[in-house]
Amino acid sequence: MKRIQLYLLLALFVVSCKTVQNNGAVAQINEVTTVPDTREIQGGMWIPSLLEGMNEQEMKLLGSKMTAKDIYDVNNSSLKDAIVHFNGGCTSEIISPNGLLLTNHHCGYGAIQSHSSVEHDYLKDGFWAKSYDEELANPSMSVTFIKRIDDVTTEVLEGVTEDMDEAAKMKIINQNILKVAKAAQKETWQDANVKSFYKGNQYLLFVTEVFKDVRLVGAPPSSIGKYGADTDNWMWPRHTGDFSMFRIYADANNRPAAYSKDNVPYKPNHYLPISLDGVEEGDFTLVFGFPGRTNEYLPAVAVDQIVNVLNPAKIEVRENALKIIDSYMRKDPAIKIQYASKYASTANYWKKWIGENQGIEKSNAIAKKRELEVEFTNIVKEKDLVGYQTLLSDFENLYKEIEKVSLARDYWIEVAYRNVELLGITFRAFQLEQAYLRGGEQAFENLRASGINRLEGTYKNYSPVVDKPVFEKLTQLYAEKSPKEYLPSTMVNVDFSEIAKEIYATSKLTSLEGAKELLEGTGEEVIKKLNADKGYLFGKELHTIFYTKLEPKFQQLNLQIEAVQKKYMKALMEVFPNKRFFPDANSTLRVTYGQVSGYKPKDGVYYNTTTYLKGVMEKYVPGDYEFDVPQKLQELYKTKDYGPYGENGKMPVCFIGTNHTTGGNSGSPAIDAHGNLIGLNFDRVWEGTMSDMNYDPDICRNIMVDIRYVLFIVDKYAGAKNLIDEMTLVHPKK
Ligand code: ARG
Ligand code: ASP
Repeated sequence: MKRIQLYLLLALFVVSCKTVQNNGAVAQINEVTTVPDTREIQGGMWIPSLLEGMNEQEMKLLGSKMTAKDIYDVNNSSLKDAIVHFNGGCTSEIISPNGLLLTNHHCGYGAIQSHSSVEHDYLKDGFWAKSYDEELANPSMSVTFIKRIDDVTTEVLEGVTEDMDEAAKMKIINQNILKVAKAAQKETWQDANVKSFYKGNQYLLFVTEVFKDVRLVGAPPSSIGKYGADTDNWMWPRHTGDFSMFRIYADANNRPAAYSKDNVPYKPNHYLPISLDGVEEGDFTLVFGFPGRTNEYLPAVAVDQIVNVLNPAKIEVRENALKIIDSYMRKDPAIKIQYASKYASTANYWKKWIGENQGIEKSNAIAKKRELEVEFTNIVKEKDLVGYQTLLSDFENLYKEIEKVSLARDYWIEVAYRNVELLGITFRAFQLEQAYLRGGEQAFENLRASGINRLEGTYKNYSPVVDKPVFEKLTQLYAEKSPKEYLPSTMVNVDFSEIAKEIYATSKLTSLEGAKELLEGTGEEVIKKLNADKGYLFGKELHTIFYTKLEPKFQQLNLQIEAVQKKYMKALMEVFPNKRFFPDANSTLRVTYGQVSGYKPKDGVYYNTTTYLKGVMEKYVPGDYEFDVPQKLQELYKTKDYGPYGENGKMPVCFIGTNHTTGGNSGSPAIDAHGNLIGLNFDRVWEGTMSDMNYDPDICRNIMVDIRYVLFIVDKYAGAKNLIDEMTLVHPKK
């Protein structure tokens, strides 16, 4: 009922707003800020093939002129044909008929780094291909198009009954998934895979096309593409030109093909026209991309554990690693390149977790979840809904039981797998030994081949000088703070400084040559050599506990938690039929809509929607590590040479909106009411990073680069007019 009233109000608003516009008044901005509450219809990451109905109506109310079919259509070209999953982790979009791909600078960062050296430092100076021949190939990169989405829930759940235990259910489900994917109707060059939605209450099949010849076309210098670096990361007001460009190549039939110099630029079914008209507060925005993971329906007890137990531990580990790595990067330009990408990704989530914790606390999210749970419990009791009575107490018990396991597991991941690089390498060697023990020489050989392939890449970006102090500090933390029952005896009452000295002086695994030498010979010989290496032995103790005690326990409890979560999801939807429920992100294609909107980060402060080049100059610190500004950009600012990209003599840089995004949405297009590109999503605001567990339309904002800033940098800064000429520039507002 409340929802219908809201729709009526909004419908009235749309009409009155039109009148204002017809009177030619610029007062529309004021009208928009006094809008009846549209917050209730914002938030959520929706499945593009299911937009008809509620989503389509909501989008219209927010100002969209598009139909659900304009966004997703199987038989005709639609927006979705321009949206591309970028290398598994980010999003990108096609912006020309020649397969030109736009994504973030931080998404292309690894590729840009891989082509860089101290002599040709594209991270520092930027890179622009002036013709197709100058574009740079990226051997291990791939990008994915979604061709079709089908609901296959019935087929996947066939044969599953309530009385089965969870492991048995999962077994059948996994078998069915394989069957469904295999039977899917598709072309020979396409793939099919099935993903779970609403915690296993719905299953969708995706038919995809994966392209593997993707070349680097252009990137601004980091002083633009990463302006403000870690100090400004996750922050508003922001002034980062976070973009880079690639191009997809296909075979002569426009189909996916491995890299070949004979490949030709891909011809897309759709590419995004680019609006030169900019945005203002209240404008409709749609972000279309591949959000990775959210956890919007966790019980309060789980959020409490994340915020008070797990996040603090991970934050502390990373803070220590980062401090050490940073000190070496600042001293040595070669190390600065080697560790650029690794450092950025470690720093990124370190800072995110801090923001997330603050946001959850400030918004009282845990208490609010508890309130909702009380309401839930009352309704379940009132209506006597069978099967749902014990869900919340089951959660309480299971989360209590899993707490130490999760904590120890996080320490293992953060220290022994991720941040002490030598220990990460010993983990791969450990898997080799396991393969040998289980499958003999043949199994060993198969794994060694792929392991050796990866070695060059690993050691290219490895320095034992940096890693040794990280080892010393992090293993000590691990010993002090990780639950004792999962600690190997080799880490109790020992001097980690002595251990580090010995390991880094003797272990063969600290260099590429040493590692290659260790891996030579038969399986039996290699295992013998490994077990004489002090570095390997130290890691092996940790990995053995992980494999034999930690992970099995975690998986066993987690399976039970997932089963409760699946029921809870279903129960929530039944108990609160008028609430909007979207499926948690799972790296599949989603639409999130909202509006350009400022916010109040704290009492007495309002943040505007847009930043300008003026702000870049306000932050400028000559020669600084993070806030230096290239000479050329300073000159363009002085002469106000903005071409068609400026707005009343000013150059817009970034803007914010209420779109519900998460990691993986980086590089997603921000699209206007008509389907034109207006911005490039790359981040969220600090106060709202909790949106992964608790989206709050008051303070959760996504950050986008204004597309006009991208064009300005390409055209005026880099002089890459050739790229502008490929694009279609439009004026939807004029
Ligand atoms: N925070 C953004 C995202 O999660 C941008 C990260 C890249 N920048 C950085 N300084 N690490 O990916
Ligand atoms: N920066 C993130 C990404 O790389 C986006 C986000 O977390 O908001 O996907």
